[in-house]
Amino acid sequence: MRYGTFDDENREYVITNPRTPVKWINYIGTLAFGGFVDHTGGMLICKGDPALNRITKYIPQLPGSAFKGTTLYLRFRRGSGYKVFSPYFVPTLDAYDLYECHVGLGYTRIVSEFFGLHTDVTVFVPIGGSQAICDCKITNVSERSIEVDAIPVVEYTHFDALKQFTNADWVPQTMQSRVHRDDDSLTILTQFPFMRRDTAVNYFTSNCPVSSFESDRARFLGENEYGTWANPLSLQQAELSNYEARRGDNVAALLHHLGEIQPGETKRLITQLGQDESVEKALPLIREFREGKNVDAALEEMAQFWDDYLSKMRVETPDADVNRMLNVHNPRQCYITMQWSRYLSLYQLGFGARGIGFRDSAQDVMGVVANVPEEARALIEMLLQVQRQDGSAMHQFNPLTMVANEGDAREVKGAPKYYGDDHLWSILAITAYLKETGDLSFLDQVIPYYDKGDDGQPIESGTVWDHMRRAVAFTRHNVGVHGLPLLGYADWNDTVNLCAGAESPFLANLYGKALLELIELARQRGDGAAAEQCAAWYEEMRERVETQAWDGGWYVRYFEADGCPLGSHTNEQGQIYANGQSWPVISGFASPERARTALDAVYARLKTDNGIKLSAPGYDGFDPLKGGVTTYPPGAKENGGIFLHANPWVMIAETLVGRGDRAFEYYHQINPAAKNDRIDEFECEPYVYPQNILGDEHPQFGLARNSWLTGTASWVYQAGTQYILGIRPTYAGLEVDPCIPAAWDGFRVRRAFRGSVYQIHVHNPDHVCKGVKSIKVDGQEIGGNVVSILPEGGTCQVEVVMGERT
Ligand code: NOJ
Repeated sequence: MRYGTFDDENREYVITNPRTPVKWINYIGTLAFGGFVDHTGGMLICKGDPALNRITKYIPQLPGSAFKGTTLYLRFRRGSGYKVFSPYFVPTLDAYDLYECHVGLGYTRIVSEFFGLHTDVTVFVPIGGSQAICDCKITNVSERSIEVDAIPVVEYTHFDALKQFTNADWVPQTMQSRVHRDDDSLTILTQFPFMRRDTAVNYFTSNCPVSSFESDRARFLGENEYGTWANPLSLQQAELSNYEARRGDNVAALLHHLGEIQPGETKRLITQLGQDESVEKALPLIREFREGKNVDAALEEMAQFWDDYLSKMRVETPDADVNRMLNVHNPRQCYITMQWSRYLSLYQLGFGARGIGFRDSAQDVMGVVANVPEEARALIEMLLQVQRQDGSAMHQFNPLTMVANEGDAREVKGAPKYYGDDHLWSILAITAYLKETGDLSFLDQVIPYYDKGDDGQPIESGTVWDHMRRAVAFTRHNVGVHGLPLLGYADWNDTVNLCAGAESPFLANLYGKALLELIELARQRGDGAAAEQCAAWYEEMRERVETQAWDGGWYVRYFEADGCPLGSHTNEQGQIYANGQSWPVISGFASPERARTALDAVYARLKTDNGIKLSAPGYDGFDPLKGGVTTYPPGAKENGGIFLHANPWVMIAETLVGRGDRAFEYYHQINPAAKNDRIDEFECEPYVYPQNILGDEHPQFGLARNSWLTGTASWVYQAGTQYILGIRPTYAGLEVDPCIPAAWDGFRVRRAFRGSVYQIHVHNPDHVCKGVKSIKVDGQEIGGNVVSILPEGGTCQVEVVMGERT
């Protein structure tokens, strides 16, 4: 079964059957104003923060057929009443003659035909905008004229998203709506919880005259809400009740008589859902986007943003699924994860528990540094503001208030109040930014540490370089009996929560990788002493990992506080972990022989056709001493599930040992685009990576969940572009070091880097996986693999021949 296809030319995925196994969504706008829209027109919108300033009431747990947040109804007279239907299919579920949902870059377009009416609706938030626009074009494709009414509807939530569901006393008493007539006789329906009447009002308005409106859900559905969203009884009346709600469940429904639409004729209705201090303040914007030409221009501006964003790297490989992911959908997902961290999706519900995750966002930065370096830098600055003076980091923070906390560690009495990994990821993010941009002056920028004095002000500030040095120093000074870093509450794997004193070889490797980055950076800065110190620390930890963590056939993943290993052949369950093997290769700690042996163990024990499992075998029973991992059945999530985020690390490790066929096999088997033809097993959107797929110990092996907001996006993008295609930014230039399937004849890449464009053509005449025989830049052979930085505004042709260098 298929639910849609890729339209590569228009950079869209087009859903043609609305009955997808789960909702398939798209993101519009940004965290500043935006949210997601599902493929049947439901929308979750917020401004600045989904927990503290949410606008629409979208309940993901309701069935797919249910109204969620927004819809559009159309109606025409039939018999003594009206035929009411939604061109979005949901919630009326009428039979359609055409249904297409175009999942585009920053917009969703739903095109449908019901009862002779062709409806084409584009939903988006203009770049930098603060309203969700629905641009609806309704065309009569029948042979008779049809008198059409259009009734777009929004259901509001209280701005405090969680209170909406936890306080049914206070919330309904506060919710209010008011109608405003604009001087050109158009209607703006506002909505606000009473306490925000004078500071932040939601508004819903359109470009066409409104003959009546409704703001109370009970009246809209009718008969004390025994009318339904599938058949709202008020829409059987000629007009809505023009009721300004003073409490209750608030909606905004605007009834427009579009009049007779002649065969072939099109009417355009543009709605806007926004929030501003007041109607008066919003009026200029509202008026601007009542004009079709301004909406067209805003859509054009958005297309240009994406043209520019995606122009930084374009690939042409022999594999169409690779091309569509690396050229469009994967970098686009990287932008979305950078915007939303793990805050708001169908699975991460944005009620405030998470906010922006330190480790998550640091890794997200690495996926966007080439495309939006300023935004990447701004996000790094935010992250460093929640790093503590001791070098560790707060686990997560609220983007509006910048109030941070220790994540789940808060909830467990006696548990260490830090995560062992958070602070180390920022080093990788910063160096990725520096290599991409060459902006070394960033290192001197002074940023406060999170710790506050009695006056609420930061006690201390330090340069970015200082923040980085403190991060590694924290890990160096917090080690356990094997000399390996203490786990803290958890490391990257949130769900393994061992007693205080447990150690994490994974952290040792992450620390090693961070030190490698610091050594290189210190040399760039001409700081030989720092480079030497980091090199000594690196060697110290390398030695510990190699003497303590090797289990015979692979590396151990943890040592419990009593010194017992986890992820060892001596364990019955959880014998081997993927991250335990990939990271010693990434850190360079593993000897070449151990690197291969450990990666072979991954292939033998963790590889499935749907991806690499995080560990095996799964723990079969709850064990409070291991923590969250044992709350999942074997094969699910971190308990032996295919946790996609960890897959690209194995791909990268395989490229580091030169095995391009294997790296690509791993790449291909989790490529969502390649799953389009067997999507009923996978269930999630085929145009983005999900966080997890059920592993082969689970009866529903292959089922994906938690799509969109996952570190998989950034890391698969890095694995694909920097390690498989091997185009890597360095301080000195663009390195070209591919590790590809031997069968490939080669590939092409257009890469914008430091203000110039590199047209790279890689030839693979000897069908090797790795190795560069020669590189010519504009016809001149260069030594080594690094193409020097061109003068700003330059272009060059880079011809690369793979094979043995002679
Ligand atoms: C998802 C979380 O967002 C991420 O921070 C964590 O590293 C992984 N789960 C693994 O537990």
